[in-house]
Amino acid sequence: MRKLVVIVLIAFTGLSFYPGEGGSDGLRQAADESGTDFGFAVHNSFFNMEDDDPYLRILKKNANTLVAENAMKPYRMQPEKGNFFFEETDRLVEFATENDIKVRGHCLVWHKQIPDWMNDTTYTREEMLEILENHITTIVSRYKGQVDEWDVVNEAIDTDEENNYRRTVWYRTIGPEFIDSAFVYAHRADPSAVLYYNDFSAEEMNEKSDAIYKMVKRLVQNDVPIHAVGLQSHFWLNEFNVSEIENNMDRIGALGLQANITELDISIPMNEISQETLQQQADDYADIMEMCLDNDHCNSLLIWGVPDSHSWIPNHTDGERGSALIFDDEMNPKPAFHALKEVLDNK
Ligand code: XIL
Repeated sequence: MRKLVVIVLIAFTGLSFYPGEGGSDGLRQAADESGTDFGFAVHNSFFNMEDDDPYLRILKKNANTLVAENAMKPYRMQPEKGNFFFEETDRLVEFATENDIKVRGHCLVWHKQIPDWMNDTTYTREEMLEILENHITTIVSRYKGQVDEWDVVNEAIDTDEENNYRRTVWYRTIGPEFIDSAFVYAHRADPSAVLYYNDFSAEEMNEKSDAIYKMVKRLVQNDVPIHAVGLQSHFWLNEFNVSEIENNMDRIGALGLQANITELDISIPMNEISQETLQQQADDYADIMEMCLDNDHCNSLLIWGVPDSHSWIPNHTDGERGSALIFDDEMNPKPAFHALKEVLDNK
C-alpha cells in the first residue's frame, strides 16, 4: 500500500524521491553548510549493489563522509602476508570521488578482525615492526589524497590491565611504542591525512577516557603525528551524559587534537521499542549533534550504519537491543532522522 502511495505521489508531483531518501531534502546539504563531516558506516552489501539501489541514493543525499563498516579492516585488506586486497576500498573511494564525499579509513591497527597470520606472537619485535610498517605504508600510500583520515590505532587501551594497555599481539611483540610507530608510518605515507586514535566506552569523563587522555598527551608531547581522538559512541538510550562528553572533548581539544564522534548508534532494548522510546532516541541524537556542532573540537559525526537492518547491535547484544540507527529496516527515516535534520537546518 505504501509503495502504491509513493508511486502515485511521484507520478503526480514529479518528485524523484523514495521515502528512504529522507524526503527530497536529505541531511547532506545542511551538514555541508554547517562545516561538519557527517555520514555513515557503509555496510558490506554496498559492494554488490546495482547503481540504482535506494541505499546508494540515501548515501548521496545524506552524507558528506563515509567509512567502511568492515571492508578496510586488517583481515580484509591483507588476508595473506604480503597479499593485499584493494577491490572494495577502491570501489568505495570511486563512489566517494564521484559524489564528492570524504572517506575515513577504519582501521589500520586493531586486535580484532585481524588475519590469523598477523595475530601471531611468535614474531620477533623487528619482524612485527616490519609487518606494521608494511601494512600501514602499503595501504595509506595507495589511498594518499583519497582517504582523508585514518583510524590508525583502534581500541588499544584496557583499564583492566595494570598499565592500561590491552595485551594485543602488537603490544606483546613490540611494546606500547607500537602506537607511536603506527602513527609515524601513517604520517610518512600521507602527511596530509588526519590521524586518529579511536576507542569505545571512553566518551565521557571516566577511568578509560582518563587513560586515553594520558596516552594521547604523551604522544603529543613526543611529537608523534596524531591529530584526533575518535569517540566511538555506541550508546544506550538515555544512558549517557552529553555535558560529560563535552568535558572530555574539551580536554582532548586543549591538547590541540580534534575529538570526533566516529561510530554513533543509540540502541533501545528490543522489548521497549515504541513511539515513545523512538522519540527519546530522536532527542538523544539531536543532543549529540547539537553538542558536536557547538563544540570547537568536534568536526565530524558518523553513524554506524544506515538502516536498522544493517546494524551490528542486535548481533553484538545477543538480540537484546536494537533499532539503534536513524533509518528503519525498510530504510524509511525515523524520528531521529527528522531530529537531526532540524538541528542541522537551524545551525
Ligand atoms: C563491527 C561491525 O559493525 C560488525 O559488522 C563486525 O562484525 C564487528 O565490528 N568498534 C569498532 C568497529 O571499531 O569496527 C566495530 O564494527 C564496532 C565496535
